[in-house]
Amino acid sequence: MAETLQVEELDDRVVVTLRRPGSRNAINAAMVRELHDVCGMLEDRPRLLLLTGDDGTFAAGADIAELRERGREQALQGINSRLFDRIARLPLPTLAAVDGYALGGGAELAYACDLRIASPTAVFGNPEPGLGILAAAGACWRLRDLVGASVAKQVLLAGRRLDADDACRLGLVAEVVPAGELLKRAHALLDRMARSGPLALRLTKLVADAPGGHPVTDDLAQAILFESDDKRSRMDAFLAGERR
Ligand code: COA
Repeated sequence: MAETLQVEELDDRVVVTLRRPGSRNAINAAMVRELHDVCGMLEDRPRLLLLTGDDGTFAAGADIAELRERGREQALQGINSRLFDRIARLPLPTLAAVDGYALGGGAELAYACDLRIASPTAVFGNPEPGLGILAAAGACWRLRDLVGASVAKQVLLAGRRLDADDACRLGLVAEVVPAGELLKRAHALLDRMARSGPLALRLTKLVADAPGGHPVTDDLAQAILFESDDKRSRMDAFLAGERR
């Protein structure tokens, strides 16, 4: 039974809601542990992941009371960065549905997902230097990949916060929908992905995330897919006039 998360397991997806009432869903050690448990579950049985936050906040960062007590040893353990890397490498696509604040580690968690959608109150920011530290769980490079170096440096160095419109314009989020429709829209996006071949999605994610990119990787992944029964039955269905 998770203490900091609500976890709903469905056939083709897992829905995780960050839930630390009174702490704006700040990411503490218990939440890190429980998110690792979710990763273990998704590695054992790959499914889509929908990640969201409770009560009008995605997550207001790492838990500052815990951060304050951490030293060099804990920084080198990469407590958040290893978790977010594990999430980024989950076999099937992940989607963050961001309502309200996604700050610090909360923003980095959203950056680690494959896709993001937001409500109009969403705010992304990395205020870590204001606390005398750096955003060390992926923001320094994931945000640059997502929005470009210039905007990333405005966020990382100049404390710029990206509201929902900024995030949409910059491509950080796929779309902005009213808070009341956020989960419905998130599920619709996942439904769309769930109609694709799971192995095709999995290999596409692997190839898209492979550092540097190399045509051989694409060919090898395609060679696996070309031999699959799923590919043959999907193409047969198309040729028989079925449209999914
Ligand atoms: N870690 C620990 N506790 C946090 C927290 C965090 N990252 N963010 C918020 N909280 C706690 C607050 O201490 C407060 O607790 P209290 O009621 O016991 O005093 C509670 O959550 C509500 O936060 P509050 O600041 O009163 O809410 P708000 O709506 O006025 O502001 C934020 C919301 C997100 C703007 C503000 O809480 C904030 O700036 N949080 C820190 C963001 C940050 O620097 N993150 C990077 C960390 S690396």
